[in-house]
Amino acid sequence: MSDNIESHLQENRTFAPPAAFSEKARIKSIEQYEEMYRESIDDPDTFWAREANELKWQQPWDSVCIWNPPHAEWFTGAKVNITENCLDRHLENGNGDKTALLWEGEPGDKRSISYRELHHEVCLFANALKNNGITSGDRVLIYMPMVAEAVIAMLACARIGAVHSVVFGGFSADSIKDRLEDSQAVAVITADGGWRRGKIVPLKANVDEALASYDGVKNVFVLKRCENDVTMTDGRDMWWEDETAKVDANCPPVALDAEHPLFILYTSGSTGKPKGILHTTGGYMVGTYATCKYIFDMQPDDVYWCTADVGWITGHSYIAYGPLLNGCTQVIYEGAPNHPDFSRFWQMVEEYKVSIFYTAPTAIRAFIKAGDQFVDGYDLSSLRLLGTVGEPINPEAWMWYYNKIGGGKCPIVDTWWQTETGAIMISPIPGAVPIKPGTATRPFFGVDAAIFDETGQPVGPNEGGKLVIRKPWPSMLRTIYNDDQRFKDTYWSEYEGVYLAGDGARTDSDGNFWIVGRLDDVLNVSGHRLGTAEVESALVAHPAVAEAAVVGRPDDLKGQAVVAFVTVKTGIETSDDLAKELRNHVGKSIGAIAKPDDIKFASTLPKTRSGKIMRRLLKEICATGKISGDTTTLEDFTAIAALQK
Ligand code: WT7
Repeated sequence: MSDNIESHLQENRTFAPPAAFSEKARIKSIEQYEEMYRESIDDPDTFWAREANELKWQQPWDSVCIWNPPHAEWFTGAKVNITENCLDRHLENGNGDKTALLWEGEPGDKRSISYRELHHEVCLFANALKNNGITSGDRVLIYMPMVAEAVIAMLACARIGAVHSVVFGGFSADSIKDRLEDSQAVAVITADGGWRRGKIVPLKANVDEALASYDGVKNVFVLKRCENDVTMTDGRDMWWEDETAKVDANCPPVALDAEHPLFILYTSGSTGKPKGILHTTGGYMVGTYATCKYIFDMQPDDVYWCTADVGWITGHSYIAYGPLLNGCTQVIYEGAPNHPDFSRFWQMVEEYKVSIFYTAPTAIRAFIKAGDQFVDGYDLSSLRLLGTVGEPINPEAWMWYYNKIGGGKCPIVDTWWQTETGAIMISPIPGAVPIKPGTATRPFFGVDAAIFDETGQPVGPNEGGKLVIRKPWPSMLRTIYNDDQRFKDTYWSEYEGVYLAGDGARTDSDGNFWIVGRLDDVLNVSGHRLGTAEVESALVAHPAVAEAAVVGRPDDLKGQAVVAFVTVKTGIETSDDLAKELRNHVGKSIGAIAKPDDIKFASTLPKTRSGKIMRRLLKEICATGKISGDTTTLEDFTAIAALQK
């Protein structure tokens, strides 16, 4: 990443919003943005009440926000159902025939679903859940490929007040089991398999393996996707199509408290155990609605495509909820960007006339590496707005995206946010804010972002510090599921009443925020968060391993690559085969994204006198091959000497 930081500091190319874009945009000038921003900070209740009033509530709120740091309640007293706003509202407004989803499977199968049809399918499946005894407040784990039914399953849970916990289809059986146990889920929704690079991912088999050691699940709903062989356990496993055939589609949206839990989504932290981030209904709904509306500037004739998976927060907020709240038409694609080759996305942009396209820097870098021949020849003229998310974007990738994909006429919204924030926090408003390669620019409405020094004082422009948020916002996490103490310790203990994001950042003299990256032991691998401690605990669970230390190494494609330093138990021989076995072992216990790119066997690891592994040294060895700086607390210099070799 050091190269990125270097070029960040020198970056001064600025691109004003194209006049043609601003004219049609909701927010047309920097003055308008600044005025709205000021209002949203000075009088957040008025600002958010106005946004919320564009949506449908079954009962109005008593207060917009009650803030007892670190606990916030939004729209207290209100009753609401988010799916009524994603679905019924559009039917009532005469938009039932509008296309909601344009779905494409990896093998090329296609499906177009109108808002009316989506409403019908959600109601049917919600009734199937109810028919099997699933009720409001129950936790339901969803482990699905990127098919329309993944969104349908999420909305069906929300329709009846069940709390979904989506697990990314690339995660392992062990990861499913951990999440089932932590959330005490009573049902699972999955598919026989999903397509990925021409192969079938055995989703149902992974669920079976997880359920072998967790017995709280009463029902497993299985969608037929790949027609691969699966084992069905009598009395527990049932086919999606059979269950929906037993019920009708009359399923009124349940009136839920605004603070009713909507979902739990697990994300890596700096200890071995992923955190169950809890989001609730009303505030999350208003936050995802408003950010989609203003940041993606969604207009009635837009075709929007976010390439994320619903297993991540991006897929929750900017596939399942935000675009549907805005009544938008969106593309959903099941498979890999390079299947059958790297032109897949551009072919789809042309075919569906995509106008708003949202992806990750790691994908952009992969496209650059694959070569322009995969882009050339496709008609990308339908595009009017581009977005990125997940990690800092290096200026080279930004310029390629801007010119090659956007034809130099599409603003890029570089959106900074987190699983915890629920919605985008820092991003240009595309018709208003001038953009520069590498900066997420300015905070969204109501987001009181600042950079603090160690003592909790805001630092001046161009000084680095810790990114914090000083005021509550509607879509903020409410707690860590079953671990409120960890919630307090992780986000609120460094500065009182102030949210600590965990990222390092600085502002420039124009007030733009430049995000540098995580300050904790969390890696960002291809835009996905991965805790070093998680990978370490997977490694030490292997019988051959004595100790492990995992660090990130700058990587041109993935942002960071995973490097594991491993010492083995006495009597164990190290070998390439063992390294391979350890990689697979990590893949099996977490998922393929966690597999170390590099395993370095060592005789001992560098430790401080108090026994802490000195990761800083390991990181430096990975990045530069040698050590500089202070090593006075190091216990044993021979460890370092051996590693440098
Ligand atoms: C971390 C959050 C939110 C969706 C995807 C990741 C990094 C995210 C940006 C950006 C620089 C970014 C941060 C953040 N990050 N977006 N535009 N510029 N860094 O969600 O898994 O919760 O990870 O991703 O480090 O803390 P997540």
